[in-house]
Amino acid sequence: TKQLTLALLKPDICANAALPPKIFEAIKAKNINIVQQRQVLWKEVDAGSFYAEHKGKFFYQRLCGYMTSGPFQALILSSPNAIKEWRALIGPTHPVRARIHQPDTLRALYGLTDTRNSFHGSDSDETAKNEIGFFFPEFDVDAWYKQQ
Ligand code: CMP
Repeated sequence: TKQLTLALLKPDICANAALPPKIFEAIKAKNINIVQQRQVLWKEVDAGSFYAEHKGKFFYQRLCGYMTSGPFQALILSSPNAIKEWRALIGPTHPVRARIHQPDTLRALYGLTDTRNSFHGSDSDETAKNEIGFFFPEFDVDAWYKQQ
């Protein structure tokens, strides 16, 4: 039995050609499988739609500016416990906290600031399905689970 999650390698990671290969290695080392992969370039309206729940928060403009600053990668990941495994690999939202408490995580290694935190991971099966649908509208999550 396997689970799907949606991962983002945010624009700061993709701006440095040396970094994505290191991230893919870290993913494979955890036996997490990359099911689909796509490069994305957002306009302001796309960021506003994906981050609608954050509208009005103090970091919202910063977040949209960051996520529209350049191309990034969206990944569908699978593993027995993909949501938890990917979130464990990326570590806490805030890179400084990650460096103190979980120095082996990807945000500890590569994250820049609270907003420019380099990675995203879905937090539940329901949000994973919604977020996969956002970036991979042709991917049938329910059919994938039936095939497992
Ligand atoms: P993510 O969890 O992928 O989606 C929401 C994003 O908002 C988060 O990554 C950060 O980039 C940003 N964010 C969340 N909390 C804060 C915060 N306290 N200050 C600044 N940015 C934040």
